[in-house]
Amino acid sequence: MKKLKFIGFLTILLTSLIFIQCTHDDPIPGPQGIAGIDGIDGVNGIDGTDGTASCTSCHSDSHREPINSSYLYSGHAAGGAVGYAGSRASCAQCHSNEGYIDYMTLGSTNPDGYSNPTPISCTTCHDQHSTFDFENDGYDFALRSFDPVTLITDETYTIDFGDKSNNCTSCHQPRRLPPSNDGSGMFAVTSSHWGPHHGPQSTLLEGIQGAELAGSEAYPGIGTAKHRTGSSCVTCHMGQSEGGDNTGQHSFNPTSTACTTCHPSGAPSEVAGLADDMEALAILLEDVGIVHEGHPVVGSYTLTQAEAAWNYLLIMEDSSNGVHNPAYAKALVKNSLEALK
Ligand code: HEC
Ligand code: HEC
Ligand code: HEC
Ligand code: HEC
Ligand code: HEC
Ligand code: HEC
Repeated sequence: MKKLKFIGFLTILLTSLIFIQCTHDDPIPGPQGIAGIDGIDGVNGIDGTDGTASCTSCHSDSHREPINSSYLYSGHAAGGAVGYAGSRASCAQCHSNEGYIDYMTLGSTNPDGYSNPTPISCTTCHDQHSTFDFENDGYDFALRSFDPVTLITDETYTIDFGDKSNNCTSCHQPRRLPPSNDGSGMFAVTSSHWGPHHGPQSTLLEGIQGAELAGSEAYPGIGTAKHRTGSSCVTCHMGQSEGGDNTGQHSFNPTSTACTTCHPSGAPSEVAGLADDMEALAILLEDVGIVHEGHPVVGSYTLTQAEAAWNYLLIMEDSSNGVHNPAYAKALVKNSLEALK
């Protein structure tokens, strides 16, 4: 048996050698023929479009440089509160690159927090293009998300600003709802951090989640503010630079040209009367004891007092001095004043 196998193997080996031989057995070439006559020149073709032109309009060092340098002026880059994302998962979704990415891609942050949280950076907001057909699908700026945002505090409400500003809403929204009536007419402030938190910009622009006390000032309809319908977070905060890196672009500081489209002789310097009303409201709230030096004080208060305090904290923490919704801000503060008097 062993011998037979060996002979079989030898036969296969020999045959394959024969085949190798055959492939090398080319015919010997004959002498070269006479060269033919040159052909007539062809017609020049039309220049094609540069395949990368639309890419390099954004992907070039010259375009990137001002974006990088303006970003250094942004509160996002500074990341003053990124430390909270270390041990507290509830803060990480808005205050760190790692927490936000987990929140957007997995639906929740790591319950254990993050050992080395980093500030918001390019990759927090940007990821990859969802399409390269910019002509038909529009530029997506490779944003991680600019879908309409369902509010953390209210699953039944979705804000859609209709442009890339939806990117801002996921973080710039309140973390609590206004005081609710449990029937007793009283409300307990249980934390010295009570209030909407620092990011109620989206809901103020939308004109919701103020404590709408009855009073002489009418509340404008939801979503009707001119600054919302005719403008947006990105048009006011990410306009073309006005000389320095510290305006517009990725500094996220508002530009004056974003205002002059509607206020041709320059934007009003303030929401008329709001600062005075806020000052008067602060004094009344100090008297009640519910707000001290801008911070809520733990205790039990009437619902009206708590609602007035909520409105004060909302306008203060929004940090635009009412610009995000002048009419709504005015009504909330004016009616709070009336209710406390
Ligand atoms: C309107 C601006 C714009 C245009 C046009 C554009 N991009 Fe982008 N692209 C971005 C932004 C913004 C990012 C994310 C941030 C970053 O990496 O700069 C990005 C990210 C990318 C990324 C992933 C990140 C990386 O660097 O690996 C790739 C790949 C990419 N772009 C390829 C392209 C290609 C290919 C084209 C042309 C077909 C193109 N882009 C056109 C703005 C643009
Ligand atoms: C829904 C998103 C969100 C969550 C969750 C969140 N924050 Fe914030 N926070 C913001 C935004 C947006 C700002 C900046 C607003 C501004 O500057 O006007 C901010 C600002 C702050 C500031 C002020 C930062 C400064 O530099 O002045 C502190 C402090 C802070 N947050 C602490 C916390 C803590 C602690 C937690 C967790 C218990 C938390 N935040 C959870 C969105 C959030
Ligand atoms: C907080 C979110 C956020 C961060 C952080 C951020 N971007 Fe953007 N970026 C945006 C949004 C939103 C737009 C679209 C603006 C618009 O619609 O006008 C944009 C647009 C762009 C564009 C195209 C617009 C243009 O001016 O050409 C580029 C390129 C870009 N970002 C690069 C960067 C780079 C690089 C970084 C880091 C240095 C960065 N971004 C950080 C949100 C962000
Ligand atoms: C990942 C969450 C996140 C996104 C997305 C985001 N922000 Fe912020 N933003 C923050 C936080 C957190 C701060 C405060 C940073 C700090 O002080 O630690 C902040 C700060 C700011 C500030 C500066 C506030 C100050 O006190 O200096 C502006 C203005 C701002 N954001 C506008 C925007 C706009 C406009 C967009 C959308 C294009 C946007 N942000 C998207 C989380 C976010
Ligand atoms: C009509 C223009 C306009 C629109 C729309 C707008 N903002 Fe503003 N925003 C301003 C102005 C003006 C200020 C005050 C800036 C200042 O005092 O330095 C401001 C202030 C802020 C601040 C506080 C900045 C600081 O230095 O503390 C944040 C955060 C912010 N806006 C985020 C947003 C977000 C998020 C949106 C969209 C939901 C938005 N803004 C929409 C004009 C606008
Ligand atoms: C789309 C048009 C539009 C744009 C853009 C716009 N505004 Fe306005 N603004 C209005 C209108 C209309 C009113 C009055 C109605 C209202 O209060 O909503 C107003 C009211 C105001 C008020 C309140 C005036 C008062 O006393 O009640 C201030 C302050 C203001 N704008 C500032 C700004 C700033 C700052 C910018 C640019 C960052 C800006 N606006 C951009 C249309 C615009």
